[in-house]
Amino acid sequence: MADKNSELNRRKFMEIGIYAISGTIAAASTVALATFAVGPSFKKEKSKWIEIDSEEVPIGTNGFARVVLEYETKDGWLTSTERDLAYVKRVKKDEVIAISAVCTHLGCIVSWDEEKKIFKCPCHDGRFDAEGRVISGPPPAPLKRHKTKIEDGRILIATETMPYGGNQSV
Ligand code: FES
Repeated sequence: MADKNSELNRRKFMEIGIYAISGTIAAASTVALATFAVGPSFKKEKSKWIEIDSEEVPIGTNGFARVVLEYETKDGWLTSTERDLAYVKRVKKDEVIAISAVCTHLGCIVSWDEEKKIFKCPCHDGRFDAEGRVISGPPPAPLKRHKTKIEDGRILIATETMPYGGNQSV
């Protein structure tokens, strides 16, 4: 009788052990699969540094060079090509400013008027000074800025923009 009981206990113990191990493996596999399948969809890429041709932006000129910032972005599983437009000026050998060409009113693209030294928005006649500050029209805020840096003579512009007056050069 004692033998039969101990046989039953051992069998029960083995059964529980097998269920526990199977459950653990199933749970670990589910977590790994979920991380693989869903994880990237929560990952959004940070800002990128884009190198621009330094000959496009000569040192000490009054005007701005109109520069296209083209780069790949990944948002979850989706990869796409983005294009931003910026006005870039090399103020000094070690100082570059990059002003976003996107109007802060409704997002039209502004143009640089070399003669009047202002940015003009064609959509609702918004006007900005050479620093990107609003002079007239409906825009509610100055033009945004891109962070910039110069490394070994290379001009780098960040894809991310920030409000005027933020920390623009690194
Ligand atoms: Fe530029 Fe309206 S979109 S003034």
